[in-house]
Amino acid sequence: MSAPQNHPAEPRTIGVLGAGRVGTAVGRQALKAGYDVLVATSQPADDIALMVQIMTPGAIAVTAAEAAGSDIVVVAVPLHKYRTLNPELLAGKTVIDAMNYWAPVDGEIDDFENEDRTSSEIVQAYLARSNVVKTLNHIGYHDLEVDGQEPGSERRRALALAGDHQDAKELVSRFINRIGYDAVDAGPLAAGRSFQPGTEIFNGSHTADQLRSILAALREPARA
Ligand SMILES: NC(=O)c1ccc[n+]([C@@H]2O[C@H](COP(=O)([O-])OP(=O)(O)OC[C@H]3O[C@@H](n4cnc5c(N)ncnc54)[C@H](OP(=O)(O)O)[C@@H]3O)[C@@H](O)[C@H]2O)c1
Repeated sequence: MSAPQNHPAEPRTIGVLGAGRVGTAVGRQALKAGYDVLVATSQPADDIALMVQIMTPGAIAVTAAEAAGSDIVVVAVPLHKYRTLNPELLAGKTVIDAMNYWAPVDGEIDDFENEDRTSSEIVQAYLARSNVVKTLNHIGYHDLEVDGQEPGSERRRALALAGDHQDAKELVSRFINRIGYDAVDAGPLAAGRSFQPGTEIFNGSHTADQLRSILAALREPARA
């Protein structure tokens, strides 16, 4: 992966909240792409330092407050724990919501069961002053480090993103591109419905052209 350029709109530091399967894979992939990576859980930084050193060599174990100071903060905690995030720490930040509602793992949660909104819209309402971008939720943690390719590679895999804040989406698109994937803007945060669990996008691996055509087909009935 190519290293990030020194451009003000170019993210350089990636904070990861969650040091589980997804958080550590994102952290390793970001390190490979040349980012500085700060990893936090709900535990004190000293308590996770050894684990972070082993699982994401090169990343720094920090508190959630320190991770929140990064250019982009990736939230990779189980969705049933989203209310343990501190909205104040994440105010004004670009936040990637990589979480999915998965009842067998999360349990049936009223917030998500009896709701028309997508899980990321609910997360955005909770993190009211953050700029939430939904992405990285529809690639398996085990694929993330395998499928990434340089820009322009034939059949490069694409990842969709959705969000209501254009600047945040552009920042996240650059990050996604650097870690090995074409970023395809699916539209506002509500459009993240098209790549939630159970959808064709969630269940597959697609190039940018394929993703755009799936997204266009999903929008088509609304025009009829
Ligand atoms: N399985 C996949 O391939 C895949 C792919 C994309 C997205 N996802 C989604 O990604 C999310 C994370 O999944 P996972 O499998 O990585 O979970 P996991 O392995 O259970 O790891 C969760 C991590 O979050 C930490 N955590 C919990 N509360 C926290 C908080 N308030 N602040 C910071 N860290 C906190 C946990 O540590 P402590 O409890 O010690 O704080 C733990 O390190 C889920 O919503 C999942 O659906 C999964």
